[in-house]
Amino acid sequence: MIYLDYSATTPPHPQVIARVSEVLAQEWGNPSSIHHYGQRAALVVERARLAVAALVGVTPEEIIFTSGGTEANHLAIFGIAQQYERPQHILTSAVEHPAVSAPLSVLAQRGWQITTLPVDAWGRVDPEILATHLRPHTVLVSIIYGQSEVGTLQPIAEIARICRARGIPFHTDAIQVVGRLPVDVPALGVDLLSLSGHKFYGPQGCGALVVRRGLAVQPWLYGGGQEGGKRSGTPPVALLAGLGVAAQLAQTEFLPQVAQVRALRDYLCARLQALPGLRLTGAWPERLPHHVSVVWTGGDGEHTGKTLVHYLNQRGVCVSSGSACASGKTQPSPVLQAMGYGDHLARCGLRFSLSHRTTYVEIDQAVTALGEILQQLTPALSPC
Ligand SMILES: Cc1ncc(COP(=O)(O)O)c(C=O)c1O
Repeated sequence: MIYLDYSATTPPHPQVIARVSEVLAQEWGNPSSIHHYGQRAALVVERARLAVAALVGVTPEEIIFTSGGTEANHLAIFGIAQQYERPQHILTSAVEHPAVSAPLSVLAQRGWQITTLPVDAWGRVDPEILATHLRPHTVLVSIIYGQSEVGTLQPIAEIARICRARGIPFHTDAIQVVGRLPVDVPALGVDLLSLSGHKFYGPQGCGALVVRRGLAVQPWLYGGGQEGGKRSGTPPVALLAGLGVAAQLAQTEFLPQVAQVRALRDYLCARLQALPGLRLTGAWPERLPHHVSVVWTGGDGEHTGKTLVHYLNQRGVCVSSGSACASGKTQPSPVLQAMGYGDHLARCGLRFSLSHRTTYVEIDQAVTALGEILQQLTPALSPC
């Protein structure tokens, strides 16, 4: 099989698997226990914290481990919102992952004012428009860094400057970015940043929220008071050890290969553009280095991006019809709709996401398979 769906998840690196197995077997203590086994496990967790902190340029005290990206986003949003007795205002974008837009909808049902900023045809938020929507009672701005479905990178540093000047906490969902592009949180100027282990060759089920020093965040889970009281629950020591290894590998192995991944991406992009009936989506060059997305203009009501995913899978090529979490649904993609695509085209998205392990031969085979599938399907359909 040819795997071109690294935005959905990445296979754990062999060194991650080795470390997770080793820790599961040997360091199984509860890090809260003050005896020998507990302290050994606590050391494993703190080493992982150091590695994750180093990857994003913060101190270990600024890392709160979570069960993954979704929980990190929840902790950022509810951790700020819960500090207020009365509903306030939050600013976000129309191209957030559901792990941000869904908790914000919950707050809206509780009377919070949520302003969802529009994006342009490439999926970009305009910082100047953002600035005009800030209000005296805006208590959080949350904007995704790298969009999972269409690959667009937002001008996060510029937005951070605007928020900082107004004293408003700024959260970014950087789950598609960390481990794929260098991220220096202090230089970026964000206050809260979410990351997830399984997007950069770490295990599934672990991630972190970076909370800049001095920013108050209420707990999301209450109980034993782990993670400085911000996130109760016995930490998954082995998974966190794997996350720590992945964070180290990001610095030594993945990030040094960004230029090669970009070259693969641009090659795939050029080859897809030569196929009839495909239109590139998302921003260029402000784009995730491993990500190419298109809409298929030749589909109809019955045949959508999902159809292509199924046919490609039969030919041994694994891709996605948008964000993996939405693949099971047949509704139009809200992200493509926000970028101005009509309902039909918004059902016809296709995403290819690569890694430093991807080869040019794999890309050639995938594009050849897609070309043949499009040729088979097109005569049967009337173009939309
Ligand atoms: C941008 C973005 N945010 C959040 C998530 C959810 O992260 P996790 O799977 O770690 O809960 C994902 C996963 O696809 C994502 O791509």
